[in-house]
Amino acid sequence: MKVLLTGGAGFIGSHCAVELYNEGFEPYILDNFVNSKPAVADRIRKITGKDIPLFEGDILDTAYLEQILEENKIEAVMHFAALKSVGESVGMPLEYYKNNVAGTLSILEAIKRCSVKNFLFSSSCTVYGENALSPVTEGLPLGGTTNPYGTSKFMVELILRDFKRAFKDFQLISLRYFNPIGAHPSGHIGEDSRTKPTNLMPLIMKAVSGQIKELSVFGNDYPTHDGTCIRDYIHVVDLARAHVAAIKRAKFSPDEVVTYNIGTGHGFSVMEMLETFEKTTGETVPFKIVGRRPGDLTEIYADPSKALNELGWKAEKTLEDMCKDSWNWQTLNPEGYPD
Ligand code: NAD
Ligand code: UD1
Repeated sequence: MKVLLTGGAGFIGSHCAVELYNEGFEPYILDNFVNSKPAVADRIRKITGKDIPLFEGDILDTAYLEQILEENKIEAVMHFAALKSVGESVGMPLEYYKNNVAGTLSILEAIKRCSVKNFLFSSSCTVYGENALSPVTEGLPLGGTTNPYGTSKFMVELILRDFKRAFKDFQLISLRYFNPIGAHPSGHIGEDSRTKPTNLMPLIMKAVSGQIKELSVFGNDYPTHDGTCIRDYIHVVDLARAHVAAIKRAKFSPDEVVTYNIGTGHGFSVMEMLETFEKTTGETVPFKIVGRRPGDLTEIYADPSKALNELGWKAEKTLEDMCKDSWNWQTLNPEGYPD
Protein backbone atom coordinates (compact mmCIF):
# COMPACT_ATOMS: atom_id res chain seq x y z
CA MET A 1 0.00 0.00 0.00
CA LYS A 2 1.27 3.47 -0.93
CA VAL A 3 1.09 5.85 2.01
CA LEU A 4 1.77 9.60 1.92
CA LEU A 5 3.25 10.97 5.14
CA THR A 6 2.70 14.73 5.44
CA GLY A 7 5.39 16.06 7.77
CA GLY A 8 7.20 12.75 7.26
CA ALA A 9 10.63 14.35 7.60
CA GLY A 10 9.90 15.21 11.24
CA PHE A 11 10.52 13.30 14.46
CA ILE A 12 7.53 10.96 14.45
CA GLY A 13 6.94 10.82 10.68
CA SER A 14 10.50 9.69 9.94
CA HIS A 15 10.20 6.79 12.41
CA CYS A 16 6.84 5.88 10.86
CA ALA A 17 8.37 5.87 7.38
CA VAL A 18 10.93 3.30 8.58
CA GLU A 19 8.38 1.05 10.32
CA LEU A 20 5.95 1.25 7.38
CA TYR A 21 8.73 0.28 4.99
CA ASN A 22 9.77 -2.61 7.27
CA GLU A 23 6.21 -3.92 7.12
CA GLY A 24 5.97 -3.87 3.33
CA PHE A 25 4.25 -0.50 2.81
CA GLU A 26 5.51 2.10 0.31
CA PRO A 27 5.96 5.40 2.15
CA TYR A 28 6.12 8.78 0.38
CA ILE A 29 7.00 11.97 2.26
CA LEU A 30 5.75 15.54 1.79
CA ASP A 31 7.39 18.18 3.96
CA ASN A 32 8.17 21.91 3.78
CA PHE A 33 11.10 21.52 6.24
CA VAL A 34 9.82 24.26 8.52
CA ASN A 35 10.92 22.06 11.42
CA SER A 36 13.12 19.39 9.79
CA LYS A 37 15.87 18.93 7.23
CA PRO A 38 16.14 17.04 3.94
CA ALA A 39 19.13 15.15 5.39
CA VAL A 40 16.64 12.86 7.12
CA ALA A 41 16.21 11.08 3.76
CA ASP A 42 19.85 9.86 3.81
CA ARG A 43 19.36 8.60 7.35
CA ILE A 44 16.19 6.70 6.46
CA ARG A 45 18.16 5.13 3.59
CA LYS A 46 20.90 4.10 6.03
CA ILE A 47 18.33 2.17 8.06
CA THR A 48 16.16 0.73 5.30
CA GLY A 49 18.53 0.61 2.33
CA LYS A 50 15.77 2.32 0.35
CA ASP A 51 15.28 5.79 -1.14
CA ILE A 52 11.90 6.96 0.12
CA PRO A 53 10.39 9.52 -2.33
CA LEU A 54 10.50 12.95 -0.68
CA PHE A 55 8.51 15.92 -2.03
CA GLU A 56 9.20 19.44 -0.83
CA GLY A 57 5.96 21.39 -0.46
CA ASP A 58 3.32 22.81 1.83
CA ILE A 59 0.13 21.07 2.92
CA LEU A 60 -1.70 24.34 2.30
CA ASP A 61 -1.02 23.86 -1.42
CA THR A 62 -4.05 21.69 -2.22
CA ALA A 63 -3.31 21.49 -5.95
CA TYR A 64 0.19 20.12 -5.28
CA LEU A 65 -1.25 17.59 -2.80
CA GLU A 66 -3.73 16.38 -5.41
CA GLN A 67 -0.96 16.07 -7.97
CA ILE A 68 1.10 13.90 -5.59
CA LEU A 69 -1.90 11.74 -4.66
CA GLU A 70 -2.86 11.14 -8.27
CA GLU A 71 0.53 10.73 -9.90
CA ASN A 72 1.67 8.22 -7.28
CA LYS A 73 -1.66 6.43 -6.81
CA ILE A 74 -1.53 7.04 -3.07
CA GLU A 75 -3.97 4.88 -1.09
CA ALA A 76 -3.62 6.31 2.42
CA VAL A 77 -2.50 9.57 4.02
CA MET A 78 -0.88 9.83 7.45
CA HIS A 79 -1.03 13.46 8.48
CA PHE A 80 1.85 14.46 10.78
CA ALA A 81 2.54 17.98 9.45
CA ALA A 82 1.88 20.59 12.12
CA LEU A 83 3.53 23.27 14.19
CA LYS A 84 3.90 21.76 17.66
CA SER A 85 5.40 24.15 20.18
CA VAL A 86 2.87 24.90 22.91
CA GLY A 87 4.67 28.01 24.16
CA GLU A 88 5.19 29.43 20.67
CA SER A 89 1.51 28.85 19.81
CA VAL A 90 0.40 31.28 22.53
CA GLY A 91 2.18 34.16 20.77
CA MET A 92 1.43 32.98 17.22
CA PRO A 93 -2.20 31.75 17.28
CA LEU A 94 -2.96 32.70 13.68
CA GLU A 95 0.06 30.84 12.28
CA TYR A 96 -0.86 27.78 14.35
CA TYR A 97 -4.51 27.73 13.29
CA LYS A 98 -3.61 28.36 9.65
CA ASN A 99 -0.98 25.62 9.51
CA ASN A 100 -2.65 23.02 11.72
CA VAL A 101 -6.35 23.60 11.02
CA ALA A 102 -6.45 25.14 7.52
CA GLY A 103 -3.61 22.78 6.54
CA THR A 104 -5.74 19.80 7.55
CA LEU A 105 -8.74 21.20 5.64
CA SER A 106 -6.53 21.40 2.57
CA ILE A 107 -5.57 17.72 2.92
CA LEU A 108 -9.18 16.66 3.48
CA GLU A 109 -10.20 18.50 0.32
CA ALA A 110 -7.45 16.74 -1.61
CA ILE A 111 -8.27 13.23 -0.35
CA LYS A 112 -11.94 13.81 -1.03
CA ARG A 113 -11.33 14.99 -4.58
CA CYS A 114 -8.86 12.17 -5.28
CA SER A 115 -10.91 9.52 -3.42
CA VAL A 116 -8.07 8.51 -1.12
CA LYS A 117 -10.24 6.80 1.47
CA ASN A 118 -7.78 6.12 4.30
CA PHE A 119 -6.68 8.99 6.52
CA LEU A 120 -4.82 8.92 9.82
CA PHE A 121 -4.35 11.99 12.02
CA SER A 122 -1.66 12.73 14.64
CA SER A 123 -3.71 13.86 17.59
CA SER A 124 -2.57 14.36 21.16
CA CYS A 125 -3.69 13.56 24.69
CA THR A 126 -3.90 17.33 25.05
CA VAL A 127 -7.44 17.10 23.50
CA TYR A 128 -8.71 15.68 26.81
CA GLY A 129 -8.09 19.08 28.38
CA GLU A 130 -7.00 19.94 31.86
CA ASN A 131 -9.68 18.14 33.86
CA ALA A 132 -9.16 14.63 32.51
CA LEU A 133 -8.80 11.94 35.17
CA SER A 134 -6.23 9.22 34.47
CA PRO A 135 -6.16 6.57 33.17
CA VAL A 136 -7.72 8.42 30.26
CA THR A 137 -10.12 6.51 27.98
CA GLU A 138 -11.10 7.47 24.42
CA GLY A 139 -14.74 8.08 25.37
CA LEU A 140 -14.02 11.04 27.63
CA PRO A 141 -15.38 14.40 26.49
CA LEU A 142 -12.85 16.49 24.58
CA GLY A 143 -12.06 20.18 25.01
CA GLY A 144 -10.85 22.42 27.80
CA THR A 145 -7.58 22.87 25.93
CA THR A 146 -5.42 25.67 27.27
CA ASN A 147 -3.36 26.93 24.32
CA PRO A 148 -3.72 27.39 20.52
CA TYR A 149 -1.65 24.27 19.76
CA GLY A 150 -3.92 22.07 21.86
CA THR A 151 -7.03 23.81 20.57
CA SER A 152 -5.88 23.26 16.97
CA LYS A 153 -5.80 19.49 17.66
CA PHE A 154 -9.24 19.65 19.28
CA MET A 155 -10.63 21.65 16.33
CA VAL A 156 -9.26 19.13 13.84
CA GLU A 157 -10.90 16.28 15.77
CA LEU A 158 -14.25 18.13 15.43
CA ILE A 159 -13.67 18.70 11.72
CA LEU A 160 -12.86 15.01 11.23
CA ARG A 161 -16.08 14.06 13.06
CA ASP A 162 -18.14 16.20 10.67
CA PHE A 163 -16.23 15.05 7.57
CA LYS A 164 -16.96 11.45 8.60
CA ARG A 165 -20.67 12.18 9.10
CA ALA A 166 -20.88 13.56 5.57
CA PHE A 167 -18.59 11.09 3.76
CA LYS A 168 -19.14 7.74 5.41
CA ASP A 169 -17.03 5.66 3.05
CA PHE A 170 -13.82 7.32 4.26
CA GLN A 171 -11.92 5.57 7.04
CA LEU A 172 -10.65 8.24 9.44
CA ILE A 173 -8.35 7.28 12.30
CA SER A 174 -7.14 9.59 15.04
CA LEU A 175 -4.23 8.48 17.20
CA ARG A 176 -3.94 10.42 20.43
CA TYR A 177 -0.28 10.32 21.37
CA PHE A 178 0.85 10.68 24.95
CA ASN A 179 4.51 11.83 25.42
CA PRO A 180 6.72 10.52 22.61
CA ILE A 181 10.46 10.39 23.35
CA GLY A 182 13.43 8.17 22.41
CA ALA A 183 14.92 7.64 18.97
CA HIS A 184 15.62 4.85 16.53
CA PRO A 185 18.07 2.42 18.23
CA SER A 186 20.50 2.85 15.28
CA GLY A 187 20.98 6.51 16.26
CA HIS A 188 20.41 7.53 12.62
CA ILE A 189 17.09 9.32 13.19
CA GLY A 190 15.76 11.18 16.22
CA GLU A 191 14.28 14.47 17.42
CA ASP A 192 15.85 17.62 15.99
CA SER A 193 13.51 20.56 16.45
CA ARG A 194 14.34 24.02 15.16
CA THR A 195 12.22 25.73 17.77
CA LYS A 196 13.69 26.13 21.25
CA PRO A 197 12.91 22.91 23.12
CA THR A 198 10.52 23.06 26.04
CA ASN A 199 9.81 19.34 26.47
CA LEU A 200 11.46 17.32 29.19
CA MET A 201 13.67 14.85 27.28
CA PRO A 202 15.31 17.35 24.88
CA LEU A 203 16.07 19.56 27.90
CA ILE A 204 17.54 16.67 29.89
CA MET A 205 19.91 16.09 27.00
CA LYS A 206 20.85 19.75 26.81
CA ALA A 207 21.57 19.77 30.54
CA VAL A 208 23.65 16.58 30.43
CA SER A 209 25.65 17.71 27.40
CA GLY A 210 26.35 21.09 29.00
CA GLN A 211 24.35 23.17 26.49
CA ILE A 212 22.34 24.54 29.42
CA LYS A 213 23.57 24.85 33.01
CA GLU A 214 20.85 22.70 34.52
CA LEU A 215 17.37 21.36 34.03
CA SER A 216 14.61 23.24 35.83
CA VAL A 217 12.22 20.76 37.42
CA PHE A 218 8.86 22.52 37.44
CA GLY A 219 7.50 21.99 40.94
CA ASN A 220 7.92 19.28 43.58
CA ASP A 221 4.79 20.09 45.53
CA TYR A 222 2.23 18.25 43.39
CA PRO A 223 0.04 15.61 45.06
CA THR A 224 2.08 12.69 43.65
CA HIS A 225 4.36 10.19 45.43
CA ASP A 226 7.47 12.40 45.00
CA GLY A 227 5.78 15.75 44.34
CA THR A 228 6.68 15.96 40.62
CA CYS A 229 4.26 15.61 37.69
CA ILE A 230 3.45 12.28 36.10
CA ARG A 231 3.32 11.57 32.34
CA ASP A 232 2.97 8.57 30.04
CA TYR A 233 6.22 8.56 28.05
CA ILE A 234 6.20 6.38 24.94
CA HIS A 235 9.11 5.27 22.76
CA VAL A 236 8.82 6.77 19.27
CA VAL A 237 9.44 3.35 17.67
CA ASP A 238 6.49 1.87 19.60
CA LEU A 239 4.44 4.88 18.52
CA ALA A 240 5.45 4.33 14.88
CA ARG A 241 4.45 0.66 15.14
CA ALA A 242 1.04 1.76 16.41
CA HIS A 243 0.54 3.54 13.07
CA VAL A 244 1.35 0.36 11.18
CA ALA A 245 -1.06 -1.60 13.38
CA ALA A 246 -3.78 1.02 12.88
CA ILE A 247 -3.49 1.11 9.10
CA LYS A 248 -3.42 -2.68 8.94
CA ARG A 249 -6.00 -3.65 11.48
CA ALA A 250 -8.35 -0.80 12.47
CA LYS A 251 -11.85 -2.03 11.67
CA PHE A 252 -13.75 0.14 9.22
CA SER A 253 -16.32 2.22 11.03
CA PRO A 254 -19.23 3.54 8.96
CA ASP A 255 -20.27 5.94 11.72
CA GLU A 256 -17.36 7.53 13.45
CA VAL A 257 -13.73 8.51 13.48
CA VAL A 258 -11.81 5.58 14.98
CA THR A 259 -9.72 6.89 17.88
CA TYR A 260 -6.99 5.24 19.91
CA ASN A 261 -4.90 6.34 22.85
CA ILE A 262 -1.27 5.58 22.10
CA GLY A 263 0.58 5.40 25.39
CA THR A 264 2.08 2.73 27.62
CA GLY A 265 -0.54 3.01 30.35
CA HIS A 266 2.16 3.73 32.94
CA GLY A 267 2.88 7.12 34.43
CA PHE A 268 6.36 8.17 35.53
CA SER A 269 7.26 11.26 37.52
CA VAL A 270 9.90 13.79 36.47
CA MET A 271 12.20 12.56 39.26
CA GLU A 272 11.74 8.93 38.16
CA MET A 273 12.69 9.99 34.66
CA LEU A 274 15.87 11.69 35.90
CA GLU A 275 16.83 8.67 38.03
CA THR A 276 16.22 6.26 35.15
CA PHE A 277 18.22 8.42 32.76
CA GLU A 278 21.17 8.51 35.15
CA LYS A 279 21.02 4.79 35.90
CA THR A 280 20.76 3.81 32.22
CA THR A 281 23.34 6.14 30.73
CA GLY A 282 25.77 6.59 33.63
CA GLU A 283 25.49 10.37 33.14
CA THR A 284 24.53 12.95 35.76
CA VAL A 285 21.59 15.27 35.10
CA PRO A 286 22.24 18.67 36.72
CA PHE A 287 18.89 20.05 37.91
CA LYS A 288 17.23 22.43 40.32
CA ILE A 289 13.67 22.51 41.59
CA VAL A 290 11.82 25.67 40.55
CA GLY A 291 8.18 26.77 40.70
CA ARG A 292 5.35 25.10 38.82
CA ARG A 293 4.97 25.75 35.08
CA PRO A 294 1.57 27.37 34.45
CA GLY A 295 -0.81 25.00 32.67
CA ASP A 296 0.92 21.75 33.72
CA LEU A 297 -1.35 18.87 34.71
CA THR A 298 -0.48 16.95 37.88
CA GLU A 299 -0.80 13.61 36.16
CA ILE A 300 -1.96 12.17 32.85
CA TYR A 301 -1.54 8.65 31.49
CA ALA A 302 -3.40 6.51 29.01
CA ASP A 303 -5.72 3.59 29.21
CA PRO A 304 -4.33 1.96 26.04
CA SER A 305 -6.54 -1.16 26.21
CA LYS A 306 -8.64 -0.22 23.15
CA ALA A 307 -5.51 -0.27 20.96
CA LEU A 308 -4.54 -3.65 22.45
CA ASN A 309 -7.99 -5.18 22.01
CA GLU A 310 -8.69 -3.88 18.52
CA LEU A 311 -5.24 -3.52 16.94
CA GLY A 312 -3.25 -6.07 18.91
CA TRP A 313 -0.78 -3.25 19.61
CA LYS A 314 0.92 -2.47 22.87
CA ALA A 315 4.07 -0.58 23.75
CA GLU A 316 7.02 -2.96 24.17
CA LYS A 317 9.85 -0.61 25.09
CA THR A 318 10.75 0.44 28.62
CA LEU A 319 11.63 3.82 30.09
CA GLU A 320 15.25 2.56 30.13
CA ASP A 321 15.06 1.96 26.34
CA MET A 322 13.69 5.48 25.86
CA CYS A 323 16.53 7.04 27.87
CA LYS A 324 19.22 4.90 26.24
CA ASP A 325 18.04 5.60 22.69
CA SER A 326 17.52 9.34 23.27
CA TRP A 327 21.06 9.60 24.63
CA ASN A 328 22.51 7.49 21.81
CA TRP A 329 20.91 9.83 19.23
CA GLN A 330 22.23 12.87 21.12
CA THR A 331 25.80 11.60 21.42
CA LEU A 332 25.97 10.50 17.77
CA ASN A 333 24.33 13.74 16.52
CA PRO A 334 25.16 16.53 18.98
CA GLU A 335 24.14 19.17 16.41
CA GLY A 336 21.15 17.19 15.08
CA TYR A 337 20.93 16.54 11.34
CA PRO A 338 23.49 18.18 9.06
CA ASP A 339 22.24 21.10 6.88
P1 NAD B 1 7.98 17.61 13.94
O1 NAD B 1 7.96 19.09 13.99
O2 NAD B 1 9.25 16.91 14.16
O3 NAD B 1 7.37 17.10 12.55
C1 NAD B 1 6.38 17.81 11.86
C2 NAD B 1 6.83 17.96 10.43
O4 NAD B 1 5.83 18.66 9.69
C3 NAD B 1 8.13 18.75 10.28
O5 NAD B 1 9.03 18.02 9.48
C4 NAD B 1 7.69 20.04 9.59
O6 NAD B 1 8.73 20.55 8.76
C5 NAD B 1 6.47 19.58 8.82
N1 NAD B 1 5.48 20.63 8.53
C6 NAD B 1 4.95 21.52 9.40
N2 NAD B 1 4.08 22.32 8.75
C7 NAD B 1 4.06 21.92 7.46
C8 NAD B 1 3.34 22.34 6.29
N3 NAD B 1 2.52 23.38 6.34
N4 NAD B 1 3.56 21.68 5.14
C9 NAD B 1 4.42 20.64 5.07
N5 NAD B 1 5.12 20.19 6.14
C10 NAD B 1 4.94 20.83 7.32
O7 NAD B 1 6.87 17.10 14.97
P2 NAD B 1 6.60 15.61 15.49
O8 NAD B 1 7.00 15.56 16.90
O9 NAD B 1 7.12 14.64 14.54
O10 NAD B 1 5.01 15.62 15.47
C11 NAD B 1 4.27 15.03 14.41
C12 NAD B 1 2.79 15.21 14.69
O11 NAD B 1 2.46 14.60 15.93
C13 NAD B 1 2.35 16.66 14.81
O12 NAD B 1 1.06 16.78 14.23
C14 NAD B 1 2.27 16.88 16.29
O13 NAD B 1 1.37 17.91 16.63
C15 NAD B 1 1.78 15.53 16.76
N6 NAD B 1 2.11 15.25 18.15
C16 NAD B 1 3.41 15.33 18.55
C17 NAD B 1 3.75 15.08 19.88
C18 NAD B 1 5.17 15.21 20.35
O14 NAD B 1 5.41 15.29 21.53
N7 NAD B 1 6.17 15.17 19.48
C19 NAD B 1 2.73 14.75 20.80
C20 NAD B 1 1.42 14.66 20.35
C21 NAD B 1 1.12 14.91 19.01
C1 UD1 C 1 3.51 19.10 26.46
C2 UD1 C 1 2.33 19.85 25.90
C3 UD1 C 1 1.42 18.90 25.13
C4 UD1 C 1 2.22 18.15 24.08
C5 UD1 C 1 3.36 17.40 24.77
C6 UD1 C 1 4.20 16.69 23.75
C7 UD1 C 1 2.02 21.64 27.55
C8 UD1 C 1 1.07 22.26 28.52
N1 UD1 C 1 1.59 20.52 26.96
O1 UD1 C 1 3.04 18.21 27.42
O2 UD1 C 1 0.40 19.65 24.50
O3 UD1 C 1 1.37 17.23 23.40
O4 UD1 C 1 4.17 18.37 25.44
O5 UD1 C 1 4.98 15.72 24.35
O6 UD1 C 1 3.08 22.13 27.31
N2 UD1 C 1 9.26 19.45 32.80
C9 UD1 C 1 10.18 19.95 33.70
N3 UD1 C 1 11.18 20.74 33.24
C10 UD1 C 1 11.30 21.08 31.92
C11 UD1 C 1 10.36 20.57 31.00
C12 UD1 C 1 9.34 19.75 31.48
O7 UD1 C 1 10.11 19.68 34.89
O8 UD1 C 1 12.21 21.85 31.57
C13 UD1 C 1 8.20 18.57 33.29
C14 UD1 C 1 6.81 19.18 33.06
O9 UD1 C 1 6.43 19.93 34.15
C15 UD1 C 1 5.97 17.90 32.88
C16 UD1 C 1 6.94 16.87 32.30
O10 UD1 C 1 8.25 17.37 32.55
O11 UD1 C 1 5.59 17.44 34.13
C17 UD1 C 1 6.76 16.67 30.82
O12 UD1 C 1 6.77 17.94 30.18
P1 UD1 C 1 6.74 18.11 28.60
O13 UD1 C 1 7.76 17.24 28.00
O14 UD1 C 1 6.80 19.57 28.30
O15 UD1 C 1 5.33 17.50 28.17
P2 UD1 C 1 3.85 17.85 28.69
O16 UD1 C 1 3.85 18.99 29.62
O17 UD1 C 1 3.26 16.58 29.17
